[in-house]
Amino acid sequence: MANPKSLTSIFTSVVLTLLFSFATAKSPPFHRSVSATSLGLKKEKLSHLHFFFHDIVSGPKPTAVKVAEAHSTNTSSTLFGSIAMVDDPLTVGPEPGSKLVGKAQGIYGSAAQYETGLLMVMNFVFTEGKFNGSTLSMLGRNAVFSAVREMPIVGGSGAFRFARGYAQAKTHTFDLNSGDAVVEYNVYVFHY
Ligand SMILES: *[C@@H]1O[C@H](CO)[C@@H](O)[C@H](O)[C@H]1NC(C)=O
Ligand SMILES: *[C@@H]1O[C@H](CO)[C@@H](O)[C@H](O)[C@H]1NC(C)=O
Repeated sequence: MANPKSLTSIFTSVVLTLLFSFATAKSPPFHRSVSATSLGLKKEKLSHLHFFFHDIVSGPKPTAVKVAEAHSTNTSSTLFGSIAMVDDPLTVGPEPGSKLVGKAQGIYGSAAQYETGLLMVMNFVFTEGKFNGSTLSMLGRNAVFSAVREMPIVGGSGAFRFARGYAQAKTHTFDLNSGDAVVEYNVYVFHY
């Protein structure tokens, strides 16, 4: 008759072997190589999008609202620390009633203490044409008083999977009294 100690160790090794084989047999691979065509990716294209961004901070229906500001004894002229959440219309023309092609949803905040420089974290959500339902993500610095500001497009979804590129923003109108702005955007992106 086998002694209980060796029975225990046989039992333990059987259990460990079973667990190990389950682990190796059942887990899907953590990573693997795939071909671009298996994801339906064909030739990379370059697209140019042109639209106007309406940042409405005044009136009864603002599209940009301040959600935070610095708790400070003196107020910086750059509003450093102030953050706004936006759901700004994107239209084909600069007029407020111009055809809507999407929205800019995201946040901007004053990230510079001694000049006007915003941190922009924005998703462009398109609702028209072949890019309906697709998004582009922009992350960059916006020195709003410069003539042309360039910000990176860091990615996208839908038609814009694997997107990369840049956006150039140019103020079309800025109302000093209300703070409302219309900004012209030219976006160049590589995507599949
Ligand atoms: C705020 O206070 C700091 C420190 O005293 C000072 O250096 C800065 O110039 C002040 N900013 C404004 C806008 O007054
Ligand atoms: C955009 O896509 C949505 C959701 O699929 C659809 O309801 C809408 O009609 C589309 N708009 C246009 C202009 O194609």
